[in-house]
Amino acid sequence: MKVVIIGSGNVATVLGRRAMNAGHIIMQVMSRQEEHAAFLAEELNCSFTSAFEEINMSGDFYIIAVSDDSLLEMNGHLFLKKKLVVHTAGSVPKTVLRKVSNSYGVLYPLQSLRKENTNTYDIPLLVDANNAKNLSVVSDFANTLSGNVRRCSDDERLKLHIAAIMVNNFSNHLYALAEDYCCKERVDFKLLLPLIEETAKRLHFFSPQAMQTGPAARSDMGTINKHLEALLPYPELKAAYEIFSKSIISKKTASPV
Ligand SMILES: NC(=O)c1ccc[n+]([C@@H]2O[C@H](COP(=O)([O-])OP(=O)(O)OC[C@H]3O[C@@H](n4cnc5c(N)ncnc54)[C@H](OP(=O)(O)O)[C@@H]3O)[C@@H](O)[C@H]2O)c1
Repeated sequence: MKVVIIGSGNVATVLGRRAMNAGHIIMQVMSRQEEHAAFLAEELNCSFTSAFEEINMSGDFYIIAVSDDSLLEMNGHLFLKKKLVVHTAGSVPKTVLRKVSNSYGVLYPLQSLRKENTNTYDIPLLVDANNAKNLSVVSDFANTLSGNVRRCSDDERLKLHIAAIMVNNFSNHLYALAEDYCCKERVDFKLLLPLIEETAKRLHFFSPQAMQTGPAARSDMGTINKHLEALLPYPELKAAYEIFSKSIISKKTASPV
């Protein structure tokens, strides 16, 4: 397909690369900041612009990968007539594009994407569209980028996005807090990597609730209090420790080790 990409950030870059590698023709990158559009266009070997009125209208498939809030601003600036246009956001309904074109949908990657990441594994792609014909085209396109494509409604996508924030953004933030703590206390954060990997691997076979271990799962209040005292100089980490310990205790059914 002839593809036009609007946006030049992480998702635009990863989906653009995958589309190019799948044999699609990337015609143009449009982005608010011209130098960002030019940078991605060079990698994707296509033209670029920062002006809505210069968008190439001979494409078959338009991917809008911009910040969630700016998606709303596309209305009134971007008119693609009958061109098939998708956005890539988890928590924005597909109808946000109804004034942009009468053929619209969603191509949402359920993965944490960074430009730096050049992995080629199958990204789960959640697709949707405003009618069956467009859904079929969006699904076919998605299937050329990944072997893991599912249809998802706005409501299901929103729920999965919330769950994704829990398992990815929040756990990664905890890694960041723990890394900072280890650095200040002069212990090696990297010693924790096998623990992080083991916890994630278990999820292929068991429910996380059944696999919970640690002092809160055992109700070892002496250890919990000792940790809280040690964390007094780290109020942010201490607050997170308290919230998670309370939550684990309230859900306790686990088999402690
Ligand atoms: N990254 C992920 O892991 C991930 C995963 C799934 C879905 N998504 C979704 O994909 C979309 C893009 O995310 P991203 O991670 O690629 O974001 P990003 O790397 O931060 O890039 C944001 C893009 O939005 C453009 N932009 C920002 N504000 C704008 C505005 N006011 N008007 C016009 N353009 C604006 C930027 O253009 P300039 O650089 O030219 O300013 C840039 O191209 C979001 O809807 C996000 O929810 C992200």
